[in-house]
Amino acid sequence: MQAATVTDATTTARITAASTATPTALPRTRSRRPLPRGLTAGLFGVGAALPEREIDNQHFEDRLDTNDAWIVRRTGIRTRRWLDEGAPLAPLAAEACTAALADAGRSADEVDHVIVTTITPDRITPGLAPEVARLIGAHGAAAVDVNAACAGFLYGLDQAAALVETGRARVVLVCGAEALSRLTDQEDRGTAVLFGDGAGAVVVAAGELDRGVSRFVLGCDPEQGDLLYADNEDRKLRMEGREVYRHAVARMTEATTEALAASDLTVDDLDLFVAHQANSRIIEAAANELGVPHEKLAINVDRVANTSSASIPLALAQAERDGLLQPGATVALAAFGAGFVWGAGIVSWKELRHVCA
Ligand code: UT7
Repeated sequence: MQAATVTDATTTARITAASTATPTALPRTRSRRPLPRGLTAGLFGVGAALPEREIDNQHFEDRLDTNDAWIVRRTGIRTRRWLDEGAPLAPLAAEACTAALADAGRSADEVDHVIVTTITPDRITPGLAPEVARLIGAHGAAAVDVNAACAGFLYGLDQAAALVETGRARVVLVCGAEALSRLTDQEDRGTAVLFGDGAGAVVVAAGELDRGVSRFVLGCDPEQGDLLYADNEDRKLRMEGREVYRHAVARMTEATTEALAASDLTVDDLDLFVAHQANSRIIEAAANELGVPHEKLAINVDRVANTSSASIPLALAQAERDGLLQPGATVALAAFGAGFVWGAGIVSWKELRHVCA
């Protein structure tokens, strides 16, 4: 099966060149007339981008005390993409955003707010979002990074929906972009094989919709912070894998159950369950507890590994390409990551109702 849209060298070169060029548009702030409150935020476009460099399991078999059979059996991961060493992440994120805008039939000039979720910005400051806004030509849009680890995309989506539904923004880009290869300890077989790089984005806008992006259930348990972290000195991901696994299944299951109840839905109403792609066993265990059948699972961890907050939009893009997502589909999203933080929400996919913004 084909991987998500791969960054082609020409596009990357074009975007990289743009990043060094003098911006043509003068900075300006947005002062658009706000929308009335009471509209529903919806998802109207998706885009994905992966680095060209592919790292298969053989790469680790050659360097560490591990093998393809262990990695596939315990994680479901067969391959992943990594940025070249020293390559910036912003052009990859910009490519995903540009693809999402094209998919939604929107121009960059319409974007009011760019939210980029990441734990691997190119610089400590400024964040990734301002550079992404510049690269895509969203001049004058607000731009902010959100760090909620692997749950970042759901936190960003919840904030985007709030901006749209309170009339503070008309069109919001939410982009999960990660270069976890930068944070991976290549000597540690317990984590080295798990992570990949990539970017995925969606367009959020307001409409008179049946469901759109419904209320999200978000949570945090700061007492568990030491089970999964990267600190400033070491700058490498450290994880108690088995414990994290246990919490991930329990929290994503509970949050999805709550989100379904809050939406007056049952598991039978779902067309697709898109969980954070950390490990196919985690996704299957959560689905089993919820009672979601295998054919309603989105799984692309085999091709991209764990891409933290990029994983859900990458999985959405892949699911649409695979024909698993039709307009109006009811989708449960669930994620879990360092913090611990987690979330779940029910969304309708590209609902074809009256779109106001
Ligand atoms: O994205 C944020 C959330 N992250 C996650 O959700 C990840 C959660 N955790 C996991 O996915 C799994 O716990 C892992 C994939 C990390 C590990 O799988 P596991 O089935 O929980 O294995 P384990 O940690 O219990 O380790 C079993 C054995 C150990 O050896 P001993 O002590 O039984 O001799 C490990 O040392 O597997 C060993 N091991 C490996 N063996 C070969 C650990 N990593 C590897 C490896 N290759 N790469």
